[in-house]
This record gives sequence, structure tokens and C-alpha cells, in this order.
Amino acid sequence: MLAGWYEKNGPAAEVIEVGQMPAPQAGPGEVRVRLHASGVNPSDTKRRSGWRGQKMTYPRIIPHSDGAGVIEEVGPGVPPARFGERVWIYNAQWKRPFGTSAEYIVLPASQTVRLPENTAFHEGACMGIPAMTAHRAVFVDGPVAGKTVLVTGGAGAVGNYAIQLAHWGEATVIATVSSDAKAAVARAAGAHHIVNYKTESVAERVKALTGGQGVDHIVEVDFGANLPVTVAVLKPNGTIAPYASMAAPEPVLPYYTLMLLNANIRMVYVYELPPTGMQQACADITRWLETGKAVHAVAARFPLAQLAKAHELQESGRALGNIILDIPGSE
Ligand SMILES: NC(=O)c1ccc[n+]([C@@H]2O[C@H](COP(=O)([O-])OP(=O)(O)OC[C@H]3O[C@@H](n4cnc5c(N)ncnc54)[C@H](OP(=O)(O)O)[C@@H]3O)[C@@H](O)[C@H]2O)c1
Repeated sequence: MLAGWYEKNGPAAEVIEVGQMPAPQAGPGEVRVRLHASGVNPSDTKRRSGWRGQKMTYPRIIPHSDGAGVIEEVGPGVPPARFGERVWIYNAQWKRPFGTSAEYIVLPASQTVRLPENTAFHEGACMGIPAMTAHRAVFVDGPVAGKTVLVTGGAGAVGNYAIQLAHWGEATVIATVSSDAKAAVARAAGAHHIVNYKTESVAERVKALTGGQGVDHIVEVDFGANLPVTVAVLKPNGTIAPYASMAAPEPVLPYYTLMLLNANIRMVYVYELPPTGMQQACADITRWLETGKAVHAVAARFPLAQLAKAHELQESGRALGNIILDIPGSE
């Protein structure tokens, strides 16, 4: 099969190879999926580059945890009815060497989720990390109906889905962005209010938009950098659900300010969701996709042969949405 891989950490153009390798066979409890699309995420490129001292955990890594395709082989113990099912995939390259940047993947059947007919493969390849992270960050403390949710970085791959899922969950959504182009993306996702955090005071705008009350819940892309705003706008007993803190990886917490708010800090790490969180995310994402209202912000699509270029675009920070690899023979 055609696959892309790397055998050492380093810059994409130096370490990524694309070539032929044997196709895998499904074992007990596993399925083999003929992949049509593979989703690229920041954690894939961070792992490849060796970010924060990450080392090679396998001699060869086929990157990417997200993908979508069709089940073409079911192993012993898997219901035969799953043969031929269109699926999206999660955690494919989490604690496993071979992810989705290949024509075929074998993985536990439990990591494949039925892809509704109204959703294309390249859209299904955005569900694993971006949509599941967004789901967890929005619903970690239960339903958000009637609540006000602040989504920072609302035009990001995760932020965009967080706006949509919070809207679907009947919350009022305020999103922050850094430009007019990103405001348009957040608006298309369904944000009720948009604040440009580069040109406006987020705290003042959020207070004004909420009649001085503040927000119940924050989906946070940059925990450390945004803490001053967080403590200014979070209601007592509110929740902060951070999924990244790139600008300040080791932030100093204003303990007493957070204590007096009785704030709930709910860290989000999509690869380690508890089983109930995983099941809830898969079920809700399926129901939401079936509404036909989901918008998938795809920034760029590359053929598998250009895997290194896809990684370089991800690392540039210029992509407005998800980056997809199309696998040969896909739709
Ligand atoms: N914990 C997890 O499980 C998990 C899951 C998925 C992703 N992540 C991490 O989350 C981060 C974002 O991932 P992504 O795929 O959504 O990336 P992305 O598509 O690049 O989106 C990030 C967005 O955040 C915005 N942003 C950056 N700093 C901001 C700030 N201080 N305030 C408001 N907005 C800000 C960026 O735009 P501007 O810079 O123009 O504002 C961009 O629109 C990455 O570090 C990724 O590794 C973690």
C-alpha cells in the first residue's frame, strides 16, 4: 500500500518519506479500513518534530490520528455487518505506530464510528481531534442549554467546532478572533457575538454583551495568556475548559481569585477522554452531523504524496481550518 511515514524526529521535508509498504490484516476485534482521507492536526506535527522532548516511540511512524474511509475487512469477533460501513476514525496514532496517512489501516473496531451518508470522507477526517476536543470542551460539565459560552480562538479547527456544538447545545456563544476573515468564519459557525481580541477589550465587551453578568463556561485555546480575561468574565461556579496553553505553558494561577469564583478548571486532552466522554462525544457528533447543519472549515487538501507540505502548512499557523490528505482513489 501507499503510505507516508517518518523514522526519526525532525523537519517535515527532511524526515517524511512516502512509499510502498505491506498492507495490514485485521486481527481479533479489529477492522481494516480503506482510507479515503486523513486529517492533519497540530499534535501530529508536534510529535514528528519532537516538540517538548517527544522521542520516537516506534521505529517507524505513519502519522495522523484522524481519518475516514470504508471498512473492507472485519476481524474475528467484529460483527460481519460492519463490512462495507463508511466510518470516521479517532486515536489512530495514539500509543500505536501506524496512523491514517496510508491507503489502509487496521485498528480496534471501537475506534471507528459510523459516518452519516450526508458527510463526505474529507469532512469525517475532521471529527477525531477537532470535533471530539470541541465536544469535550463544551460539554465536560454537562448540557449548556441556556448558558453563555465563550469560545476563544473561534476560527481555529477546534474553536470552530466548539462554536457549532455549543450553538447546537442551545447556548449563547461569544467567540474571540483576531481578524475580519476569522470573524466571518466564527459567524458562519454560528457565534451569536464576536469580539476581536487584538483590537477590543474582551473583558469589557463580554461584560457589556452579558449585562455585566459574565459567562458560564469558557472553551479556552490559550489558558495562560488569557487568564486575566478569564477571571474578569467568568461567573461564580463557572467552568474553564482549556485545551492548549501555547503562549504560556507554565502559567502562574491567581489562586484566590479563582477560589473566590469557585471556578472549575476542566483540562481537556482528547486522547485520554474517559470512556463515557468518548461514547458521549461519538453519539452527539453523529446526531449533530445528521442534522445536516454542520459546517466543516477545510483550509487545504493535499494528495498523500505531499504529506510533508501538509505538515509544513500546519506548522505555519496560516491554515484557516482543517488540513486534509486525500488518499488515492478517494472521492
Ligand atoms: N488538548 C487537546 O486534546 C487538544 C486537541 C486539539 C488541539 N489541541 C491544541 O490546541 C491548539 C489549537 O489547535 P487547533 O487545531 O484548533 O489550531 P488552529 O486551527 O491553528 O487554531 C488555533 C486558533 O487559536 C487562535 N488563537 C491563538 N492564540 C489565541 C489567544 N491567545 N486568544 C484567542 N485565540 C487565539 C488562533 O488565531 P490567532 O492566532 O489569529 O488568534 C487560531 O485561530 C494547538 O496547540 C493544538 O495542539 C489540543
